[in-house]
Amino acid sequence: MYYKVITYGCQMNVHESEKLAGMLEDMGYTPCPEGVDPDVVVFNTCCIRDTAERRALGNIGVLKGLKKQKPDLIIAVVGCMPQQAGTAETIKQKYPYVDIILGTRNIYLLKGEIERVLSARERANAKRYRSSDVTLPENYLDIDASTPTLRSSYPNAWINIIYGCNNFCTYCIVPYVRGREISRDMKSVLDEVRACVDMGYKEITLLGQNVNSYGNDLSSDVSFSKLLREIDKIEGKFRVRFMTSHPKDLTDEVIEAMAISSKICNNLHLPIQSGSDKVLKDMNRRYDREKYFSLIQKLLAAMPDIGITTDIMVGFPTESEQDFEDTLDVVRRVRFSNAFTFIYSPRRGTPAASMPQIPYAVKQARIDRLIKEQNAITKQLSDLYTGGVYEILAEDVAPKYQNKICGRTDSGRLVTFDGDEKDVGKFFDVKITASRSASLFGERVN
Ligand code: 5AD
Ligand code: SF4
Repeated sequence: MYYKVITYGCQMNVHESEKLAGMLEDMGYTPCPEGVDPDVVVFNTCCIRDTAERRALGNIGVLKGLKKQKPDLIIAVVGCMPQQAGTAETIKQKYPYVDIILGTRNIYLLKGEIERVLSARERANAKRYRSSDVTLPENYLDIDASTPTLRSSYPNAWINIIYGCNNFCTYCIVPYVRGREISRDMKSVLDEVRACVDMGYKEITLLGQNVNSYGNDLSSDVSFSKLLREIDKIEGKFRVRFMTSHPKDLTDEVIEAMAISSKICNNLHLPIQSGSDKVLKDMNRRYDREKYFSLIQKLLAAMPDIGITTDIMVGFPTESEQDFEDTLDVVRRVRFSNAFTFIYSPRRGTPAASMPQIPYAVKQARIDRLIKEQNAITKQLSDLYTGGVYEILAEDVAPKYQNKICGRTDSGRLVTFDGDEKDVGKFFDVKITASRSASLFGERVN
């Protein structure tokens, strides 16, 4: 019996798909080979932007044909998309062949629900079993800790440290679909890091919608900086990265913990979203440009080689031409090592969705200008690496080249160099010989 888990969205979803796969393998399902029809398909969905939703719905639609040919196929739609108010009902009506719908904190029910679908089918004349559960259980931490995980991103291990978000940025659907913040117990996080290091993982990526508020809901001596310092004490050669950091919550203690640690990479993803104080206020981001600049200065003073990436959104409802110019100005001044750029997409139920919207053509023109500006900076910063020698963790075989592998510098730049599958998971000193926009090419020096 074969399964397929199709994942949309962020690293949190990628990691949660490892849990979905863990449960399916526990039940005896194996990954579906190419060219064979699966027995179970799970769509782990995203709803952060309209495009993410449309892509998932399109692919769920495509399965209608397969379900006709193979009525035994089990289809589950889980995660953020059905967690939105009313969406589970819509999916039930528009895609009647979907068997199981589960919200963000109900994915652990997958096993039981599949068993129920199967047992209903065995009973003659039984009505077809269809289910949907999008409640947000309060004892989620215990449930999640006991869900098996099939890690599939060696040498990196994703580790969730905090679930949910309390920030309610006015454009964002996440707080509605992932509930309020719940931090995991620090001991349980440290145990998981140790277990992953013992198993041979060489990079730990701590995950949370806002890792910097880790511990706010725990006792007063637990904080994200404390967690970083404790992880740094764990024996072994491994790297630590984390995402995402909210600028309003990035403390001096976290910056210091990063700077003094040899394990925590000098790499930070710090979404700015906009460079205009007015837009930042309307977005409910609770920092201004000056605050953001001062964080950048502190980070550079503590770690001159740090790689800082960001998320930038254009076309927020109240963004004027001048506000957009302010964003370009920040991009030129900060010089991010890379930026993820997005066109604002109205999300039903969020405050910004009910404001007067900007025409799509204006948003498109702005993002084009932004990308052009950032690409030039990314390339200039890449060029600075050429000639230098950097320690690279080989993370994967290079997708586009034969007999090459790729990995990142401590600061997060992707480097491609000679090697094969057996080198993945090892550290190499690599001399950078060429740069091409965001990626570098190099040669091993030992
Ligand atoms: N439209 C466009 N981009 C969005 N993001 C969050 N919500 C929206 C939205 N409604 C972006 C933000 C965030 C990243 C993960 O996605 O930039 O940092
Ligand atoms: Fe969304 Fe803001 Fe929470 Fe990030 S911090 S998940 S952008 S509400």
